[in-house]
Amino acid sequence: MKLSDRLSCVAQHVLPGLPMADIGTDHGQLPVWLVRTGMVPSAIAMDLRPSPLSVARRQVAMAGVGDRVECRLSDGLEKLTEREVATVTICGMGGGLMARILGAHPEVRESVARLVLQPNNDVEKLRRVLQALSWGICAEELLIEGRYVYPTIVAEKVVVSRCYDESELAFGPLLRVARSEAFVEMLEREARQVRRVLGQCQGSPEATRRFEARLALVEQELGRG
Ligand SMILES: C[S@@+](CC[C@H](N)C(=O)[O-])C[C@H]1O[C@@H](n2cnc3c(N)ncnc32)[C@H](O)[C@@H]1O
Repeated sequence: MKLSDRLSCVAQHVLPGLPMADIGTDHGQLPVWLVRTGMVPSAIAMDLRPSPLSVARRQVAMAGVGDRVECRLSDGLEKLTEREVATVTICGMGGGLMARILGAHPEVRESVARLVLQPNNDVEKLRRVLQALSWGICAEELLIEGRYVYPTIVAEKVVVSRCYDESELAFGPLLRVARSEAFVEMLEREARQVRRVLGQCQGSPEATRRFEARLALVEQELGRG
């Protein structure tokens, strides 16, 4: 089984040799791949809904890894116990929902060594929540596939951390430093999109002000401010 580029980005940051849990696993491809390749000894594939979990169960059975991948019905971290896994991955859902999941069971979250998160929106909100919970960003990836932009955030618990500034929260502290082609492309896309929205929100001074401020931040990041 070949993993998509998007999920490969997540897989490469999972702590090797230690158990992991995938929250919102759906098809279960990530935990199955990690166990099959021997990158982790065991995995828990978790989902809120029974129907995706039954798809995951089929994947697990087909891959012959039923002795090492457990499928578990759970709302976020609810059914995970403390110190049960080293890495928690959450991919393919909004950053707001991820923030809620991470906030709901602090004792489980704090027993985990690493979080690997791939939100499909609200990434700035997620960075803010990680900062508020004292989780530092230790790696970031950015993948663009067609019209989709996939940021991956790797976070670990930090004892003392400096506060991220507004640009770091908006665009990613490490993505800004690496300044890859994908990063510049992401900014160019956002600038075009905000300009388009600005052209449509005449008559709403509040919205106009908000989008103008965002455009200024993006342009500044592009070095055009
Ligand atoms: C779009 S799929 C993403 C699947 C996979 N993680 C990926 O990135 O390809 C999102 C999955 O998250 C699950 N989900 C949504 N809210 C959840 C929650 N609170 N706890 C666990 N799973 C949840 C949904 O049931 C769905 O299967």
